[in-house]
Amino acid sequence: MHQENMSANFNNLTRNDVKRRRHLGEHLTSEGIFIQYILPEIIAYRDEYLWADLFCGEGSLILPILGTIPERERESFFRNHIFMCDIQEEMVKRAVKRAVSYGIPEELACERIRINDSLRHFPAELTSVRTKVYHVTNPPYLYLGYIRKNSELSHYSDLFQGTGNGLQDLYQIAMSNDVRNDIRRMVYLVPTNFLFGKSVSERIRSYVLGNYSIEQATIIERKVFANTGTNILILFLRKAETPVEKIEFRALKISEKSRVGRYILRKEYRFSAGDAFDRYVEKNRQRNSPEVYFYLTRNEIVSNPGPNPVRIIDSKSYNSEGYSLFHLSVSKKMYERLKENPLFVRTLDTGTSRGRAGLYEIEKVFGADGIMVEGSTYRTNPIHIFFNNISSRPLALKIMNEFNRRLEELREETDSEFMTTYKYSTSSYTRKYLGLNQVKSLMKTIDIGGL
Ligand SMILES: C[S@@+](CC[C@H](N)C(=O)[O-])C[C@H]1O[C@@H](n2cnc3c(N)ncnc32)[C@H](O)[C@@H]1O
Repeated sequence: MHQENMSANFNNLTRNDVKRRRHLGEHLTSEGIFIQYILPEIIAYRDEYLWADLFCGEGSLILPILGTIPERERESFFRNHIFMCDIQEEMVKRAVKRAVSYGIPEELACERIRINDSLRHFPAELTSVRTKVYHVTNPPYLYLGYIRKNSELSHYSDLFQGTGNGLQDLYQIAMSNDVRNDIRRMVYLVPTNFLFGKSVSERIRSYVLGNYSIEQATIIERKVFANTGTNILILFLRKAETPVEKIEFRALKISEKSRVGRYILRKEYRFSAGDAFDRYVEKNRQRNSPEVYFYLTRNEIVSNPGPNPVRIIDSKSYNSEGYSLFHLSVSKKMYERLKENPLFVRTLDTGTSRGRAGLYEIEKVFGADGIMVEGSTYRTNPIHIFFNNISSRPLALKIMNEFNRRLEELREETDSEFMTTYKYSTSSYTRKYLGLNQVKSLMKTIDIGGL
C-alpha cells in the first residue's frame, strides 16, 4: 500500500523532480526495511556506538532507533549517539522534523542533522570519534557511465580521479571514503552488483573486502524503492584485524520465497559472489568445443535470393498474435545454412518453468527456419545462433540438450546467481538474463567428440 502511494506521488512529479532525484541518487528507504532487516541486528550495540548516516534523506535508517529509547532518555541519547547529514536542505528539514516528532528539541536536532556534501567532506563531528562510528547508510547511486554521458553531471567527474580512480558509481565513492576514514562498522544498502558485478564493482570490492569482513547480508530481489527497479543488498561490514583473503557469510535472499544462501568470496577471484560460472568454465574447458556466433541479418537473407522456400520471423515485429512470419526464397547455400543451424538463444526467462533462458529449436517454438533482425539488436529478443565449426542439424540438437542440461545444473547449484536479475520483472518469480558471452563460454565446456 505504502509503495502504491509512493508510485502515485511519483506520477505527479514534475520532470525536474525526476531529474533532481536521479542526479542526486535519491531513493529513500522505507522505515519498514530498517525495522525488519537492520534494527534487530544492531539493537544489542545501541548504546556503544555513534549512529551516523551521511546520506540520510528523511532519516529512516537512523531515527527509528529513538523509538526503542524511553522518552525521557531520548534527548541525551540523540545528543551523544546520533549524527546525520544530507546535501539537500529539504531532506535535512524533513529529518529534523522527524527527530522533533520523537521529542527531540528542534535546536538540538538542527545541530546533529545538517547539510553536508558527504561525498567530498567527511564531517568534522566524526573525525575525533571515528572508531566509535557505526555508519548505517543508503548512499546515492549513480553510475559513472551515466555521469560521463550527461554534461549536467560533469561536477561529479573529479570524484572519480585520484583516490576515486577506477571506481564506477557514487555509492562506491561513499564506501571508499569510509574505508579511508577508518570507519570500523557499517551497514550499507547498495545495488547487488557490489557483490555480483564484474568490471562495475571489482575495484571497490577489492578495496572494501580486502579490509572488512561481511558479518551478514540480505539480498532483496524485489522492488525496494518506488522509482527504480535496482535490486539491493543490505551489507553488514566490520573492519578486519588483518588483510582479508577469504570471506564466508550467510545471506538471506528475499524474492518470491525467502531462503538462506552461503557464500565464499576469495581474494583471488576479487571477492566476487558470482564467480561459480567462471570457475566452472575454467575447470571444464574442452579443446574441441562448439564455436558460435549470433544473429541472422535481414541483409544476409535479402542478398541471398534463390528458389528455396524458407519461413523467417522478424524478431522486432511482435504483436499479440506473435512474430510476423515471412515466406521467402533463398539460395541453396543460405537454405542449407539455416537447416544446419536450427537453434535460437532465449536470453531471458519468460517467467514460466517452460520458458527458461537457454537454447531452443526455432521450428518448434516459432514454426520457422530463421530469426532475422535489422538495425540495432535487442538483447532480450530471440537470437538465432550459428555454429562456425559444425554443419549438422542432429549434432546441433545434441549440443542444445547438453547446453541446457549444464545451464540448469549451474542454475541449481548457484541459485542462478551468475545470471543478471531482470529489473522490470512483474512475473511471480525472479526472471534471469543469460548474456551472450556466457553462452559462448558455456559452449567451451562441451566436447563435440563426446556427443
Ligand atoms: C539513496 S538516498 C538515501 C536516503 C536515506 N539514507 C534513505 O535510505 O532513505 C541518497 C541520499 O543522499 C543524498 N545525497 C546525494 N548526494 C549527496 C552528497 N554529496 N552528500 C550528502 N548527501 C547526498 C540525497 O539527497 C539522498 O537523500
